[in-house]
Amino acid sequence: MAKPLTLVVACSENRVIGRDGRLPWRIPEDSQFFLDVTRGQTVVLGRICYETWPQVNEDGRQPVVITRDTALARPNVRITNNVPEALAIAQTLPGEIMICGGQRIYEETLPLASRLLLTLVHAEVPGDTYFPEWRPLPWRETHRRESRDANFRYTFLTLER
Ligand SMILES: NC(=O)c1ccc[n+]([C@@H]2O[C@H](COP(=O)([O-])OP(=O)(O)OC[C@H]3O[C@@H](n4cnc5c(N)ncnc54)[C@H](OP(=O)(O)O)[C@@H]3O)[C@@H](O)[C@H]2O)c1
Repeated sequence: MAKPLTLVVACSENRVIGRDGRLPWRIPEDSQFFLDVTRGQTVVLGRICYETWPQVNEDGRQPVVITRDTALARPNVRITNNVPEALAIAQTLPGEIMICGGQRIYEETLPLASRLLLTLVHAEVPGDTYFPEWRPLPWRETHRRESRDANFRYTFLTLER
C-alpha cells in the first residue's frame, strides 16, 4: 500500500509562509517542532527550501529535492524535476513522507495529503509565498496545542482526513 503524505507547514492567518526566500518569523519552538517531526523521515522539498537548509541530511532525513538543476544531486540527495516523480521516489525511501514546501509543492500535494501538521501563526504578516487554502477541505482535527512566545501566538494543529 502507498505511504500516506503529510504536509508540514507554519502559516499565518493570511496564509503567508515565506518572504524573500526566508521564513517571515523566527519562532524557535516551531523550528524545533519542524526538526523533531521530520527527523528520520523522507522529506520532499523545492530547490529554495533545500538551499536554505544545509543540514537537511542530518538526523537520518532522506531529502527528495524538486529542481531542474541536476548539479544539486549528492549521494544522499535525490533530485527530480516534478512532483509526481518526487512522490514516486519518496515511496521507495525509509520512514514517513513529509512534504516541506514551498508554495507550488504544497499546492500540488495538498489534494493528495492525508495529514497536515500545521502551525497556525495568529498574525497577518506580509510575504511573497503562500500556503494554499486548506480550510474548506474536510479535515478532522486530531491534535491542538496553543502556545506563544514574546512575538507571536500560534497553534500546533494536526488535521487528518
Ligand atoms: N513556513 C513554512 O512552513 C515554510 C515551508 C517551506 C517554505 N517556506 C518559505 O517559502 C519560501 C520558499 O518556497 P518557494 O515556493 O519560494 O520555493 P521552493 O519550492 O523551495 O523552490 C522553488 C524551486 O523549486 C523547484 N520547484 C518547486 N515546485 C516545483 C514544481 N511543482 N515542479 C517543478 N519544479 C518545482 C523549482 O526549482 P528550479 O528553479 O531549480 O528548477 C523552483 O524554482 C521561503 O521563503 C521559505 O522560507 C516556508
